[in-house]
Amino acid sequence: MNGSRHGTSLFSGNPSDLIGRTIAGYRIVDEIGRGGMAVVYRAIDLRLDRTVALKLLAPGLARNDTFRGRFTHESRVAAAIEHPNIVPVFDAGEADGVLYIAMRFVVGRDLRQLLDREGPLPVAVAARIGVQVASALDAAHDHGLVHRDVKPGNILVARGTDSDHPEHVYLTDFGLTKKSLSLTGFTNVGEFVGTLDYVAPEQISGKPVDGRCDVYSLACVVYETMAGNPPFQREDDMALLWAHQYDQPPALTGKRPDIAADVDAVLAKALAKSPEDRYDSCLAFMASLRAAARGATGAGGKPARADAEAVGTPGHSGPPPEPPSWARPVFPR
Ligand SMILES: Nc1ncnc2c1ncn2[C@@H]1O[C@H](COP(=O)(O)OP(=O)(O)OP(=O)(O)O)[C@@H](O)[C@H]1O
Ligand SMILES: [Mg+2]
Repeated sequence: MNGSRHGTSLFSGNPSDLIGRTIAGYRIVDEIGRGGMAVVYRAIDLRLDRTVALKLLAPGLARNDTFRGRFTHESRVAAAIEHPNIVPVFDAGEADGVLYIAMRFVVGRDLRQLLDREGPLPVAVAARIGVQVASALDAAHDHGLVHRDVKPGNILVARGTDSDHPEHVYLTDFGLTKKSLSLTGFTNVGEFVGTLDYVAPEQISGKPVDGRCDVYSLACVVYETMAGNPPFQREDDMALLWAHQYDQPPALTGKRPDIAADVDAVLAKALAKSPEDRYDSCLAFMASLRAAARGATGAGGKPARADAEAVGTPGHSGPPPEPPSWARPVFPR
C-alpha cells in the first residue's frame, strides 16, 4: 500500500510541530494517533476548558470537492445522532484550509490495538463488542447515513460501567473514508486508500451502497475478533478485491473449532456477495450470531445452515469464475 501524499507542512513535518498551537479554539496537547488521512490529537477546548479529541484531516482533502461536500453533510448528520455507541461530535469545520472535527475524547484503545495485543477474543466478548457497533450502525442507517468504513481502527473500546457491561464501545468516523472516492476513480493514483480488509463487494464495483455494506464490513470485523484475522488475506490489494467479490470466506470454525458450527452459516450470510442476500440490519446479524453461538437455530426457526445454503451471488449464474493466479489465496485452502 502506498503512503499518503500530504500537501502541506501541517502533516509532513514533525508530528510535535503542532503541539501547543491553537487551531479553531482548540489548544493541541499531544498526538493520539494517525491514520492515512488524518492526525488525531488530544486538545483542550478553550471555550469550555475540557479535553476533546481533535481530528485534523489531511489538507489535500479540503481541496477535493466531493470529499468536502460529504464531510460537511455527514459530520452534521453524525452530530445529530444521539446514540450511546456513537462518538459525540462537538464541532466540525475548516480553519486555515484544514478540515477539523472535535469530538469526545475516549479513554481506551481502538479495537485494532486491542486485537494486536490480545489476539482472538472470546466469543462472548466479540459478541458484546459487535452488538454495540451494530446498534450504532442501525441507528445511523435509520438516519439515512451509511458509515462505509467500519473497521477495527474506527471502533473505540473504553472501560464499561460495571461487570454486566465490562466495555463500552464507540463507533467513529462516519463518512470519513476516501475509499469510495478512490475506488471509483475520484482521487489520484497512488493516494492512500486505507485498508481493504473490510470493504464490501458493491463498494468495490462502484454500485450504490446502503446500510448493508456496513453489515458486510461489520461481519468482517466480527470474524476477525474471533479468528484473529479478517476473512480474506491475500498477497496484494488486487487479489484482496477479487476475493471480496468472488471467493467464499473460509469457515471460522476451521480456526476456532470451539465455536458452534452454525456460526459459520451466519457469517456466510452476513458476508454474502449481494446485499439482498445479507441480513437486513446489523442487529439482526448479531442476534443470529449470538443464537448460533449458543447452539440455538437461526432466525425464523430454520437452521442457520439453510440460510447459508441460500446465499448466492446474483448476477453470476453458476459458480464464480476461477481466480487468475494473482488472485489466489496466499495460504492454499
Ligand atoms: N474520539 C477519540 N478519542 C480517543 N482516541 C481517538 C478518537 N478518535 C480517534 N482516536 C484514535 O486516533 C487513531 C487515529 O485515528 P484515524 O481515524 O486518523 O485513523 P484510523 O481510523 O486508524 O485510520 P484511517 O485513516 O484509515 O481512518 C485511532 O486509531 C484511535 O486510536
Ligand atoms: Mg479512523
